[in-house]
Amino acid sequence: MRSLIDIRELSVEEIDELVKVANDIIDNPAKYSEKCKGKILATLFFEPSTRTRLSFESAMLNLGGNVIGFSDSQNSSASKGESVADTTKIVSGYADIIAMRHPKEGAPLVASMNTDIPVINAGDGGHNHPTQTLTDLLTINREKGGFNNLTIGLCGDLKFGRTVHSLISAMSRYDNIKFILISPDELKIPDYIKKNELEAKNLEYVETTSLEDVIGELDILYMTRVQGERFFNEQDYIRLRDSYILTPKKLEAAKEDLIIMHPLPRVNEISVAVDNDPRACYFKQARYGKFVRMALIMKLLEVE
Ligand code: NCD
Repeated sequence: MRSLIDIRELSVEEIDELVKVANDIIDNPAKYSEKCKGKILATLFFEPSTRTRLSFESAMLNLGGNVIGFSDSQNSSASKGESVADTTKIVSGYADIIAMRHPKEGAPLVASMNTDIPVINAGDGGHNHPTQTLTDLLTINREKGGFNNLTIGLCGDLKFGRTVHSLISAMSRYDNIKFILISPDELKIPDYIKKNELEAKNLEYVETTSLEDVIGELDILYMTRVQGERFFNEQDYIRLRDSYILTPKKLEAAKEDLIIMHPLPRVNEISVAVDNDPRACYFKQARYGKFVRMALIMKLLEVE
């Protein structure tokens, strides 16, 4: 059975279909309330989460299914030294589909190689986060009306920010996309993404350290949290964590139809004074996550 480890495993057509189904779920939720009756989702979260885990669980419950799992590896046999492969084999006997988050890059891939049930990568270390990208794509579809002709500013921790990596993979397949990569020098986008995604596809991109210089050009501003848990030392984190703080003042130079996105959680990088700006989409974006995860669970379970 099919898993979702990397967003590129979904074709552009499949993404369109998932977005279409998610939009239909928003309009007609009752139609979907028994689609996964009798099915069980296991959420195996070896790393903290609020939105991703709860929206997966809420998605399965809204489809009429059930949920098991753990939200802290200390509560699982991982704390006794069990491998991801073994945990997956065991859980496969209890569930129909797995959503896994893990601090180690590649762990959900290893899981998918050790089971016959679908495994969804719910975030693996500083690598990928494909279902956040589906959430982001549904947001862009609803707020911008499509995926082409967009200048996208990605701001903050582009090195460890896995949501940014998956979003670049997804958006780089559309027409006339320009990326503006805004980060401190220490947190620039990894070279492998530049090479494999941006340069291989001949995409237009600019790297800068200044948000103010570029904010007026953007159709989408995607803010991110500096990923303190992936830093090697505390001093660097403290020095870099407040590199960018979006304020109403900075937004004066932005387009009227800009959309401001953030995968959340926010720390300091968006001032709460921005929340009432009509361009702020991050709370809506978090809500959309449930609907697109419902669409994804149905697709991977091959539910009609
Ligand atoms: C993101 C993550 O876990 O990568 N959160 C999320 O899933 N919405 C972003 C983050 O933690 O900063």
